[in-house]
Amino acid sequence: MAIRVPMASPDISDAEVQAVVETLRTPTLSIGPRLEAFERAAAAVAGVEWGIGVNSGTSGLHLCIIAAGVGDGDMVITTPFSFIASANCILYERGVPVFVDVDPATGNIDPHLVSSAVADLTRGGVSADRWLPPALRGIRRPAGRLRALLPVHAFGQPADMDPLLDTARNADLVVIEDACEAIGAAYKERPAGSLGDAAVFAFYPNKQVTTGEGGMVVTNREPWAHLLRSLRNQGRDVFDGWLNHTRLGYNYRLDELSAALGLVQVSRLEQLLAKRARVAAWYNERLASLELIETPRNVPTTTHMSWFVYVVRIVPPARRDTVVHLLAERGIPSRPYFTPIHLQPFYRERFGYRGGEFPVTEHLGAVSLALPFSGVMTETQVDEVCETLRDAVERSIALPATRGVSR
Ligand SMILES: Cc1ncc(COP(=O)(O)O)c(C=O)c1O
Repeated sequence: MAIRVPMASPDISDAEVQAVVETLRTPTLSIGPRLEAFERAAAAVAGVEWGIGVNSGTSGLHLCIIAAGVGDGDMVITTPFSFIASANCILYERGVPVFVDVDPATGNIDPHLVSSAVADLTRGGVSADRWLPPALRGIRRPAGRLRALLPVHAFGQPADMDPLLDTARNADLVVIEDACEAIGAAYKERPAGSLGDAAVFAFYPNKQVTTGEGGMVVTNREPWAHLLRSLRNQGRDVFDGWLNHTRLGYNYRLDELSAALGLVQVSRLEQLLAKRARVAAWYNERLASLELIETPRNVPTTTHMSWFVYVVRIVPPARRDTVVHLLAERGIPSRPYFTPIHLQPFYRERFGYRGGEFPVTEHLGAVSLALPFSGVMTETQVDEVCETLRDAVERSIALPATRGVSR
């Protein structure tokens, strides 16, 4: 069956097309004025001093992990209810992701649990074991120290940052915000991206702001800004020539075409977010009265929501995976979102995870469903999705459990 409504679509106006074409007519397609302008604009969105453009959100997170000083066996506390990159970036530097379960309302890391984890991990010994991956308990405990917290603002709703920042301050931990899904969001009136030592935005085409591929680190820490600029550019320092490399670096640069696109997108941020909020409101209106579908919950600390995805929960006896199939049969894509990181094959194998370690995350992973969503969706498309969903949820109760889930 042909797809009737796309899962996500970028929102590109003539201004973006013009900006990219104009850039193509210049001799500078990398390391140029558009990147600098985009960096200033993105830093302004977060209300911070520095923006460092990179070629993906994942690269941005990797560089922040390096800046935080994470090395062999060092621990970073993060959430298992996220996109895989938020934990993988720790592994790139041979660190250990220490997962802490999430708040059932938001799916964001639970600050009370984080506080207990920090106390136990700082104390070390057997009290640390309950937080560590199964394969690293007892005699295999990591040799490094606890260095950082890496909360994720899942789905565009900021994590509960104040208690996390208190915990971090008391234990001398760096805080890296994974704001890849939350550009333009606000926590207690403070912008996502301004709350930790550094934050990362991502610009894949399903994101609120896109550059095709791309990402941005934002920070108030000037030494970090200089270090990150060097790391993304093959380790060249400001005084280095093209073939001099002061440190081990990467090619994580963002090209001028992407920056030109991003610059226009950021100038339209309010409009882009308002359009997404309108689509979310259409969904909420249509789904609010359905007993077996829970609509997304925004908590009072979220003073501005930046809608990235529209994720509902399918309540038993309705079956989420059967709903995915039934929707797909009718040309409506959907995604089980997120699949918990600790249950991904690679994490199970390397760290010995089995089900049952993080009950809230695992429950959310089993019932959550991302529906087609973008700022350019029409009300008619939302109607179509909601009608098909209503029918699929009812039918899923009577059908036997599905064998496989199409992704
Ligand atoms: C929470 C989160 N972190 C990190 C990333 C990685 O961003 P990118 O795909 O640009 O590497 C994403 C992207 O989907 C994300 O949603």
